[in-house]
Amino acid sequence: MAASYPFRAALVTGASSGIGAEAARQLAAAGVPVVVVARRRERLEALAAELADVEVLVADLETREGQTVVAARIADPARPIDLVVNNAGFGTSGAFAELDVDRLSREIALNVDALTRLTHAALAVMVPRGRGWVLNVSSFASFQPAPRLAVYAATKAYVTSLGESLHQEVKASGVVVTTLCPGLVRTEFQSVSNTSHYQTEFPDVLWLPVDEVVSTALNAVAKGRAVCVPGAFYKSASWATGMVPRWVRRAASGVVQRR
Ligand SMILES: NC(=O)c1ccc[n+]([C@@H]2O[C@H](COP(=O)([O-])OP(=O)(O)OC[C@H]3O[C@@H](n4cnc5c(N)ncnc54)[C@H](OP(=O)(O)O)[C@@H]3O)[C@@H](O)[C@H]2O)c1
Repeated sequence: MAASYPFRAALVTGASSGIGAEAARQLAAAGVPVVVVARRRERLEALAAELADVEVLVADLETREGQTVVAARIADPARPIDLVVNNAGFGTSGAFAELDVDRLSREIALNVDALTRLTHAALAVMVPRGRGWVLNVSSFASFQPAPRLAVYAATKAYVTSLGESLHQEVKASGVVVTTLCPGLVRTEFQSVSNTSHYQTEFPDVLWLPVDEVVSTALNAVAKGRAVCVPGAFYKSASWATGMVPRWVRRAASGVVQRR
């Protein structure tokens, strides 16, 4: 049976691949019209040809111009959006001092700046309406430092902190902000972030099926949850991170992220 959600129209960033493409598919299957955002037009058009009621919006969210176009679409009163999924993001693995600093700036522009501006655009229209949902895609990496993936973990720590604050701040208005913190999911993320070696280094039990991550997240935002950590292993590990001293977590992630 197809899932049923309270959303009337959604916008999903990073919908040309991975978690975002799956979110667009599951929303469309539930009868929710979706605006799909990314840079690769051909991927978005293929999605629009495959699914009913999909609007393609090509934008580079690392740029202020792209962020402004998408923010304007979210705010358009003629075509209201009541679910925004801020999913576009990437990582950069390697020794911090040896990485391309311009790439790290682009990573911050996408993971932090674009997500902040689109969340702002969404809440600016949703709070006065007293209705709406924002699903921000963070990561399990947001819960502890990640040597060799330091900027990525820092951007995601920002996303989780922002999301938790805003969840509480707008709760009484009837608007929901949910932060999704997935563990490992097989997508293009690994090739883009230079972490393809994870595929062989980490056992199958740590890899979450993308459809489960997305259905768990859509149910969590529809239910008004603050934070969603899909998968039993990651859920218990996220509880444990609250009990383990930070220096132990830092040392442990240094051992895990050897290359
Ligand atoms: N996969 C994992 O293990 C994992 C775990 C935890 C969290 N996450 C998070 O999940 C989210 C989705 O990642 P994914 O795993 O689905 O990776 P993915 O398959 O690489 O998808 C990333 C999406 O972001 C879009 N994107 C990248 N740069 C963009 C830009 N400048 N402007 C607009 N869109 C851009 C890409 O589209 P274009 O290239 O067409 O623009 C693509 O659609 C990310 O925020 C990631 O940090 C992933």
